[in-house]
Amino acid sequence: MTDQTITSISRETRVVRPSAEFKAQANLGSEASYKRLYAESVNTPEKFWGRQAREHLTWRRPFKKVLKWKLPHAKWFESGRLNVAENCLDRHLTSGRANKAAIIFEGEPGDVRTLTYRQLHGEVCRMANALAGLGLAKGDRAAIYMPMVPEAAIAMLACARLGVVHTVIFGGFSSEAIKDRVNDCKARVIITADGGWRRGKIIELKSSVDRAVTATPSVEHVVVLKRTGQEVAMAEGRDLWWHDLVAARSDSHKAQAFGSEHPLFILYTSGSTGKPKGVLHTSAGYLLGATITMKYVFDLKEDDVFFCTADVGWVTGHSYVVYGPLSSGATVFMYEGAPNHPEPDRLWELIDRHHATILYTAPTAIRTFMRWGDAYVNRHRLDSLRLLGTVGEPINPEAWMWYYTVVGKKRCPIVDTWWQTETGAIMVTPLPGITPLKPGSCTRPFFGVVPRVLDEAGNDVPRGSGGRLFLAKPWPSMLRTLWGDDERFRMQYWSELPGYYFAGDGARFDEDGYLWVVGRIDDVLNVSGHRIGTAEVESAIVSHPSVAEAAVVGRLDDLKGQALVCFVTLKNGVAATAELKETIREHVAREIGSLARPDDVRFAAGLPKTRSGKIMRRILKEIAAGGAVKGDTTTLEDFNVVAALQAEE
Ligand code: WTA
Repeated sequence: MTDQTITSISRETRVVRPSAEFKAQANLGSEASYKRLYAESVNTPEKFWGRQAREHLTWRRPFKKVLKWKLPHAKWFESGRLNVAENCLDRHLTSGRANKAAIIFEGEPGDVRTLTYRQLHGEVCRMANALAGLGLAKGDRAAIYMPMVPEAAIAMLACARLGVVHTVIFGGFSSEAIKDRVNDCKARVIITADGGWRRGKIIELKSSVDRAVTATPSVEHVVVLKRTGQEVAMAEGRDLWWHDLVAARSDSHKAQAFGSEHPLFILYTSGSTGKPKGVLHTSAGYLLGATITMKYVFDLKEDDVFFCTADVGWVTGHSYVVYGPLSSGATVFMYEGAPNHPEPDRLWELIDRHHATILYTAPTAIRTFMRWGDAYVNRHRLDSLRLLGTVGEPINPEAWMWYYTVVGKKRCPIVDTWWQTETGAIMVTPLPGITPLKPGSCTRPFFGVVPRVLDEAGNDVPRGSGGRLFLAKPWPSMLRTLWGDDERFRMQYWSELPGYYFAGDGARFDEDGYLWVVGRIDDVLNVSGHRIGTAEVESAIVSHPSVAEAAVVGRLDDLKGQALVCFVTLKNGVAATAELKETIREHVAREIGSLARPDDVRFAAGLPKTRSGKIMRRILKEIAAGGAVKGDTTTLEDFNVVAALQAEE
């Protein structure tokens, strides 16, 4: 399945020990308690998770059995009933948090809004009543295509309250991408906005939805939030303004209880084929994973202001902007726009202004801040911060040290958290105050997680060597299937090694048993922390009329982690011009979204193929990296192709 051997070359040996101050106040205060709880979580998982589920979630009907595991299908807390939105809102109204800020929001233009738990509850109820008024009911699907504004969270929670399954589509995706996702899950409603602010400009959202809905027969209504205020087309009967829709609605709503395994959301993510996968998460297990990691990984305290920079369009935004923090009764800080608007110090300014205590962001962002320079950080005090986190890709030790020293002033532990859209919540991570940190390593498994690094034959590789990362046990927040494609779910995650979840990542354990994730080993690239399937980009490129064939590979990039390099063969008679390269880049941006715009387009007379016709990506990767082609080329059909590709550039 992989044409790349996994080598791990990092020789990082620094160890950063937790401070006595942090340790003294940590929610899990000792190595001994981690060891004890971890042992319990893997030796008697049903006992451990049953207790956690009773302690952290509010049930309408208690569950009897903790886990039914019929590989690859898990059912957690099956007979229990609860309402996810009630867990995120209602229960805090009676526990002294009614007037606590649930969401503090700052828009890019500088507008600030605070919603207390009581106010957020009222808004969610209003929207739930409105959606119910449109006929949406349990099990229906709704798509959400919104900027990072509180209404994105309100829309998600209103769906959850009704048992409507949401699929959030990142605002950077194009109308083609909206169309595919909406059609795959047959959403009845799309909730969007006129636009959102980004670097002083309007990102048009409604107009993208308009282009998509010409070919989405399931969509009955488009609900439009007025955010940016520009003129948008409203189709009579189909399109409804958010403010009109909720105007006459009550701010109370009696929530129904749903079974633990009722679907909560579908989130599309890239896989190794052209079609995005609809990862399905259900209610109780997912919410438990998001909630318990808030407590132990982010060491959440009542007065924390939690700032996760992820967009709600990604899983990190689901679990650590909306469900995890709100289920925990935390205060979330949410920012709409770009980190360098109007100046490259916006993020640090936000942290000071809103007294953020925990910052959770991505390595690609950290590398960018680093490049912008320390001066922007040093203009601000940042003394409210007490904990830092990263997610999305491996963090290089240099960026880790910069984050630790310049942002955290050597006072804040860093939690480097490894997880995936599929895992729903953080899986491998330091526990702050307990785990000695090694820059670049996500360190040790969270409760219930049993990571294994295995070779092709399924044997554990020796410590220090690279292999493929598997998880050996089911966990509550695991994906349940791929929407409408259970067969692909089995094949993708459970068929590499029977009984084990295959993560698609390469990794190694070091001599201390710390995990180092090296990156994807399938045909998925990680560009600026976003998963992009090479096959998706390839199919976008070949949909251009001038293109005959395309192959896309990654090249290491200092800022983005990986950059997209596309090898393109043109149809006969088409001239290979610089303009055409630009046209192809724009074409991909239009087909998928600007996040997938190729960094480099190279024209090639032919692509290196095996005799059976499979494109040899390993060779293309070497060419993209600018190096000589090494390794085995005996299966290569025509070596001249390689020589020609190297001569090109
Ligand atoms: C990568 C994001 C190294 C990994 C939550 C994984 C990481 C993919 C880390 C999932 C980390 C995520 N260290 N690599 N701390 N966190 N990854 O689905 O390759 O967008 O498989 O979920 O990101 O990306 P996804």
